[in-house]
Amino acid sequence: MSFRWETSGRGPATLESIRAFVAEVSQDLDPGSRYIRELLGVLEASSSAGDYLSRLEDPERIEVFQKDGAAASQGERGRSWVDSETWGGMDAYERTLSNLLSGETRMMWAAEGARNFELLAEVLAELHSPRRVLSIPCSTGKEPFSIVIAGLRAGLSDVEVIGVDRQQDYLRKAESGSLVPHWRDLELEGVETYLEERAGRLQVAEEVSSRCSFQQGDVLTGALPSGPFGLVSCRNLLGYFRGESLETAWRSVSSRVARGGQLLVDPFVSAGPEMQLVRDLFAKEGWTRTYSDGDFYRAPE
Ligand SMILES: C[S@@+](CC[C@H](N)C(=O)[O-])C[C@H]1O[C@@H](n2cnc3c(N)ncnc32)[C@H](O)[C@@H]1O
Repeated sequence: MSFRWETSGRGPATLESIRAFVAEVSQDLDPGSRYIRELLGVLEASSSAGDYLSRLEDPERIEVFQKDGAAASQGERGRSWVDSETWGGMDAYERTLSNLLSGETRMMWAAEGARNFELLAEVLAELHSPRRVLSIPCSTGKEPFSIVIAGLRAGLSDVEVIGVDRQQDYLRKAESGSLVPHWRDLELEGVETYLEERAGRLQVAEEVSSRCSFQQGDVLTGALPSGPFGLVSCRNLLGYFRGESLETAWRSVSSRVARGGQLLVDPFVSAGPEMQLVRDLFAKEGWTRTYSDGDFYRAPE
């Protein structure tokens, strides 16, 4: 399987090799990205690779960032969205990447995903059984788990979600069924049916995890399950890309949607001026927006 930003085989991390890696990844991203600017600032302030890596996991900064994800990051952005086990498995390059494209994720009912979560009941109901869904990127699993929960709440027990992400350690976390804690994840009536506290950890119930599977993939190389899927969810990823890489990523995910099926994006893709390219592609290729207040787009028949 091919990946755009290969992190293995780069040798020991030095400030120079990390800078070169950031420059390579940045070519695919929004050139005005504050994530790139903030990380270059951290590299600039660091006296050695060891100093740089310790700035990425400063416990006080992480605590501040976990309360307010809009705060300016001094390198703690990536570490703030995972637990210590997940972070422990990641090398210097993966940790760097997690500051440029973070594993930020919440259960879908929390924050700006809430309306789309509500609409999922109707969207899933129209799929043929078994209702196969692709969630790309899935980060540490909260999006696939949320989609299954939306189905179960609507009485649909045949929803099966494949979660895909390029980060192997996030996938391992997702496979464990244990959630990286976030205070907003409990904001759903009846949530205790699906999320259980076990040995001090929040764990998804068996009826949820048994309907999810996980695998590695990359939207920029197109290494994804072939499908087609009645529903593909691609939230909070396209917004990082610009130009050619944005079009490539959109084509990779949209080509996995069955004819007449739906693609779920995020509100930034539906409304952000920077995402006009995606909206033009939807229009040019005959896709229509399904709900005026949701971010589902229907593929042509
Ligand atoms: C902000 S998270 C979004 C997670 C989830 N969709 C959500 O909205 O809750 C972005 C994820 O994209 C993944 N990612 C970054 N580049 C990718 C690529 N080229 N292909 C697949 N996944 C990628 C990251 O590893 C990270 O887990």
